[in-house]
Amino acid sequence: MKPMNKNKPNTVVIEPRILYYGNPVILLSTLNEDGTTNVSPLSSSWALGNNVIIGIGLEGKAYENMKRDPECVINIPSPELWEQVEQISHYTGKNPVPTYKQEMGYSYCKDKLEHNALTCIASYEVRPQRILECPLQLEAKVMGDRVPEHAPHFAIIETQVSKVHAHADILLEHQYIDPSKWSPLIYNFRHYFGLGERLGNNRRADV
Ligand SMILES: Cc1cc2nc3c(=O)[nH]c(=O)nc-3n(C[C@H](O)[C@H](O)[C@H](O)COP(=O)(O)O)c2cc1C
Repeated sequence: MKPMNKNKPNTVVIEPRILYYGNPVILLSTLNEDGTTNVSPLSSSWALGNNVIIGIGLEGKAYENMKRDPECVINIPSPELWEQVEQISHYTGKNPVPTYKQEMGYSYCKDKLEHNALTCIASYEVRPQRILECPLQLEAKVMGDRVPEHAPHFAIIETQVSKVHAHADILLEHQYIDPSKWSPLIYNFRHYFGLGERLGNNRRADV
């Protein structure tokens, strides 16, 4: 890498509308009041040990569902599923649609997967169903939820993963995911990307 001159930084100060600097997309399954599954595309999530922390809008159906039934499935799509994600991106399971979402062009849809041909199947330990086509499906319980004072439209949800389902063809051996066979779908300033080539590995990488 070319050395940089700290006396002449190559930066400008900007005010971007969004700060989505590239996170994996998840399809979050939550339980509707009638026992069916709602699926919400999200990109604000990260793992801390066996916990996955999710950032979610308070006015969405997923939040309402998790407040009532504190469990979910974090389905993680691969890059080839980007169109299936985008096909349901203008729907909410919330009826009536909140005013601000109407203004953003959202409409109500109870069964979003009817519109993108993904398949729900039963989970093992939670009631929301998991999505068969997603190579990783994490069943989880909601352990905590906090609405930050400085960001009152969002909740930070803490989940604990209790069961991990992985497509057999992304595994190296039984307990290991092969990073050369698995890659997440990345949401990068509202554009979908896959991963590039492997650059190297951490000293603690499994293999
Ligand atoms: C790729 C993608 C990523 C998104 N990330 C988030 C997110 O991290 N948090 C959030 O609250 N909404 C996010 N959204 C918007 C939700 O999908 C949208 O609010 C949707 O209506 C939620 O569905 P629901 O109301 O049925 O839960 C994202 C949408 C897309 C397409």
